[in-house]
Amino acid sequence: MAGRSILSQPACRPELQAARAMVEEAMERDGVVVLSPLEASRTLGLVAELGLAPTCAMLDPWYNKGAGGVRPDYREFLDGLLAGAGAVADHVYLWGFPEIVAGQLERLPAPLQLVSWLTWYYKNNPSVIRGWRSAQMTCLHLSRPGARLYPEHFLTPAQLEKKRAGKLRYLPGPPSVLEAPLLVGFVGRAERTGHPSQKPCQVFSTLLRMVLGEGDIVVDPMCGSGTTGQAAREVGGKAILSDHDPRWVEVAARRLGVRPVALPGVPGFRGRPAG
Ligand SMILES: C[S@@+](CC[C@H](N)C(=O)[O-])C[C@H]1O[C@@H](n2cnc3c(N)ncnc32)[C@H](O)[C@@H]1O
Repeated sequence: MAGRSILSQPACRPELQAARAMVEEAMERDGVVVLSPLEASRTLGLVAELGLAPTCAMLDPWYNKGAGGVRPDYREFLDGLLAGAGAVADHVYLWGFPEIVAGQLERLPAPLQLVSWLTWYYKNNPSVIRGWRSAQMTCLHLSRPGARLYPEHFLTPAQLEKKRAGKLRYLPGPPSVLEAPLLVGFVGRAERTGHPSQKPCQVFSTLLRMVLGEGDIVVDPMCGSGTTGQAAREVGGKAILSDHDPRWVEVAARRLGVRPVALPGVPGFRGRPAG
């Protein structure tokens, strides 16, 4: 089982076949695989080398402001990530604050194109800033030409019935503004993991429902607390996750009820996380 990407699958070198089998078995058994800590670019490269052909890449990096720190080469970092993700996946979601990701539209790597500018809107940001209170994050939906979308996944049973009967005159999709509260204060206590930038699962599952068919794979190389894995399970997909920080690899694995795996014959792992 290796996903149903529109990209033809590259062959996997013989010395990597054991690693590929391990990833496939874990996904078959658990729906997700959490790789031991890796740099994001290495995770994307590894997915390509293993010939795993994910349908989607979820890119939710630190935002180059606030607690995650500011790097002058952030644009170049995003350029590399987008090129790596576009090389392996049909669809790419890139998260960030609007003023930061907007600049990326001018420099999308071929063959990625903008499908939609999505906004996650939340009303409950407890900001102390004197001025406009931030109430949104942006997610760029990018894809290769011809990549499949599933607006039908959002139809009600009555609409599906009408569609089957050929009586649905237009196909409504979800709106490009997704409203869900920030996981903060009393909100979402049961879902919270302690990760400072954790996204609500409801937001990620909407994104994945639009692009994943049953059993399709999403890769998230900066998975934080593993929201992508949780959301993939909810929509019947599979997920390959990693993060460069051993703390979050451990948290994501615990949340999803699996153990992090370091793959045989693959260099670059930062060793097994403590735990
Ligand atoms: C915004 S958070 C992701 C939150 C996640 N979507 C969730 O809901 O829990 C960004 C994550 O990227 C990770 N990260 C930052 N730079 C990275 C890099 N170069 N390679 C891999 N992971 C990285 C951080 O450790 C952090 O956990």
